[in-house]
Amino acid sequence: MQHGAGSFAEIRGRRAHCVDSGGDGPAVVLLHGFPLSCATWAGQVEALAPRWRVVAPDLAGFGLSDPPGDPEGQSMADYADDVAALLAHLGLGPVVLGGLSMGGYVSLAVLRHHPSLARALILADTRPGPDTPEVAARRTSQQAQVRAGRVDDLLDTLVGPLLAGPEHISRVREVMASASPEGILAALEAMKARPDATPELAAISVPTLVVVGALDTMSPPAVAQDMVARLPRARLAVVPGAGHLSNVESPEAFDAALVAFLEEVAG
Ligand code: MLT
Repeated sequence: MQHGAGSFAEIRGRRAHCVDSGGDGPAVVLLHGFPLSCATWAGQVEALAPRWRVVAPDLAGFGLSDPPGDPEGQSMADYADDVAALLAHLGLGPVVLGGLSMGGYVSLAVLRHHPSLARALILADTRPGPDTPEVAARRTSQQAQVRAGRVDDLLDTLVGPLLAGPEHISRVREVMASASPEGILAALEAMKARPDATPELAAISVPTLVVVGALDTMSPPAVAQDMVARLPRARLAVVPGAGHLSNVESPEAFDAALVAFLEEVAG
């Protein structure tokens, strides 16, 4: 999971990094989870190019992208505006928009604030609902940990629950090391404050692929099934043997579901 052929752009006053496979194919934009980077999409970039133009940005403060100017005031709408500005910069849209976990929260925010930018949607290992009070309180103590300079301790506790097995732990932990303290603070703030997207699902008219690792304990299959029931044009793909990072743990099954969906929406 290295950063591939990346490029930088000035997006809303900050330096933003993304991997862009280039070419003339239909565009697929993939948004990573927390506290990760576009490096987690390396397998999908390779599997989908050159048939598809795959764009995988580092969200603000992750990977090689600058952090937001006001981390404590960050919202999902800010990330959505960054995605919209990046697409405008690249001259792309409407695109197939996909996100895993926090990337899914951002994708739903793009649908809310910039609905014309998505012609199809991929929601992987994510949920439409807001944080419970317990989860929000946990994020507040994680923010205190970051402010106290204990980022490494926090990341050490975050990595295990993302994966069903031990195989990818060290690689994923390495990716986490590229997150800036400001980026982590901002994402925790935005996740805590994110609105409930559940009532919006019924109005999402674009074809949607919902993907979930069979062993995902963070956004389990039951949550994915409920999303599919509420979305007018959704189908479900359950990735066997995978936890929350289903694209990393079982890339063959994840990519097969993705390719089948993309071929259908391209046709
Ligand atoms: C993620 O993978 O993006 C996180 O698990 C999202 C969250 O903490 O809600």
